[in-house]
Amino acid sequence: MGVVVTVPATSANLGPGFDCLGLALSLHNRVEASPAPRWEITVEGEGAGLLPEDESNLVVQAMAHLARAAGRSLPPLRLAQHNEIPVGSGLGSSAAAVVAGLLAADALLESRLPPARLLALATELEGHADNVAAALMGGLVLVAGDDVVPLPCAPLQAVVVLPAVTLSTRAARAALPASVPLADAIFNVGKMGLLLHALAQGNQAQLASAMADRLHQPYRTPLIPGLESALAAAHAEGAAACLSGAGPSVIAFAATEQKLRRLAGVIGASFAAAGVASRHWLVSSNVAGATVQAT
Ligand code: HSE
Repeated sequence: MGVVVTVPATSANLGPGFDCLGLALSLHNRVEASPAPRWEITVEGEGAGLLPEDESNLVVQAMAHLARAAGRSLPPLRLAQHNEIPVGSGLGSSAAAVVAGLLAADALLESRLPPARLLALATELEGHADNVAAALMGGLVLVAGDDVVPLPCAPLQAVVVLPAVTLSTRAARAALPASVPLADAIFNVGKMGLLLHALAQGNQAQLASAMADRLHQPYRTPLIPGLESALAAAHAEGAAACLSGAGPSVIAFAATEQKLRRLAGVIGASFAAAGVASRHWLVSSNVAGATVQAT
């Protein structure tokens, strides 16, 4: 028997919700796994030629992690990865790989770990829970310590603009201070409350005000050439916009496709003015969590 696992992209933080909020988006990675005489790993689409096609591949690492946790051994597999999520973009590509590996191994080994255990294993590998929780559960997810809860979110449309900047999550986290001024913490608490209200209502004007942050974005901005003007250009259009996860992508929200295409243009132009090429995707929220199908 084999399995096909499909996992959505995710945008973490959404401005003020640093390490606490994740939103599933309509780009997906698909992993087909079936028993084979020896390991055979292929990667197509995003990350092809970049991601390893051997047992150091993160999907395989996640499968091995689950096998260890379940006290089982992992047989060699044929693993075909079809990726839509750009790698190193702030769209949860590593979270998707981790979730795909855990769910595929759980199904193939018939270990049937409970969802909370799968989330804990994913968080161990990923280091923070926001992306993996949204990838597993879909929709909008709040991670508040041990409380991981789906939250109401109106259907939203967004554009994600990915500048050609290499920025690892590790480097983007290393740029953060150990502590922040109380005034900045208060600012974020207020914006976070407003953000959850705006997301539930789908209130674009309120979203534009709510998607502001003083805990991580100011410290990461110098790492991404053109980011400051890209965000300013989106804000000048009246849009809600922020760094997606640890970056370097920007995510901006609008109600119509015409407006999203305009945002893609102004954000891309800001990166271009800083000498940075970019790619963009139109995406939507209201996306289900990871699925597993037997084949
Ligand atoms: N919350 C994490 C961070 C997400 O911003 O570092 C990384 O994708």
